[in-house]
Amino acid sequence: MKSSVIVIGASGGIGGGVVANLLAEGYPVVAVGRHRDTLLQLADRLGQPSALTVLTASVESETASRDLVQQLVALRRRFAGAVVAIGPERDCGRLMDRNDVFLEDRLHAHVVTHFNAARALIPLLADGAPNALYLGIASAATTHPWYGFGHFSIANAALRMLAKVMHGENRDMPVRVQQLALNGLVRTHRNDHCACSEWLEVDAVGRAVIDLLQHSDGSAAVLDLRAGGTPVPVND
Ligand SMILES: NC(=O)c1ccc[n+]([C@@H]2O[C@H](COP(=O)([O-])OP(=O)(O)OC[C@H]3O[C@@H](n4cnc5c(N)ncnc54)[C@H](OP(=O)(O)O)[C@@H]3O)[C@@H](O)[C@H]2O)c1
Repeated sequence: MKSSVIVIGASGGIGGGVVANLLAEGYPVVAVGRHRDTLLQLADRLGQPSALTVLTASVESETASRDLVQQLVALRRRFAGAVVAIGPERDCGRLMDRNDVFLEDRLHAHVVTHFNAARALIPLLADGAPNALYLGIASAATTHPWYGFGHFSIANAALRMLAKVMHGENRDMPVRVQQLALNGLVRTHRNDHCACSEWLEVDAVGRAVIDLLQHSDGSAAVLDLRAGGTPVPVND
């Protein structure tokens, strides 16, 4: 039997697609999110698979992340990896019309949460299974501002650097620490009614995650995924 994979943000568009693909590939999955109802909806959508365990937990603070780790340890599993696909609420508007509280809140929800997840999960993976994969999911849009979603652009630029710092600082750990940067809009169960000329399909994201889980040598801090492609190391 394969080792389990933890997916944080499992009830989200990307996380849900990653969970479905991991289950189809035979990985038991521990699906984590802050709201039990949306996790149960995920389980219903996937036909209540026996290989799916849902955990209500958060990485919004160090205390919450420690609680998540305790819940994961209590499951007494071996983990092949962890995928962190969390994101802040979608809200748009000029950043200049917002205030400091708004920006601080969005940076916390997007960047500090990834930091908390990495600090909690990398040691857990290192203890349990050599060569496990810790994979953050982010956007590849890190250099050009996306007006109307300025906080999102700032967060993604920071997440790119966070991924590099985490990769470098954990080089001696028996864990591959990487980021998958999604280059384009992803069609998921949450937005498949929208019009977009070139989607990255969520199943392609799921397959890329499995490819990295099974074959990545862990040497690249960041890998870029675009529609029709496979993960390509980023050298910037
Ligand atoms: N969708 C796209 O087109 C796209 C494109 C490029 C990159 N990305 C990146 O992919 C990532 C995921 O995006 P998405 O579209 O899947 O977002 P999403 O649909 O909003 O899902 C995010 C999930 O994260 C969970 N979450 C949020 N904060 C959390 C926390 N502190 N602890 C635990 N779970 C938390 C939320 O569930 P609960 O509220 O239940 O906790 C939610 O299910 C983001 O980093 C985004 O930048 C997305």
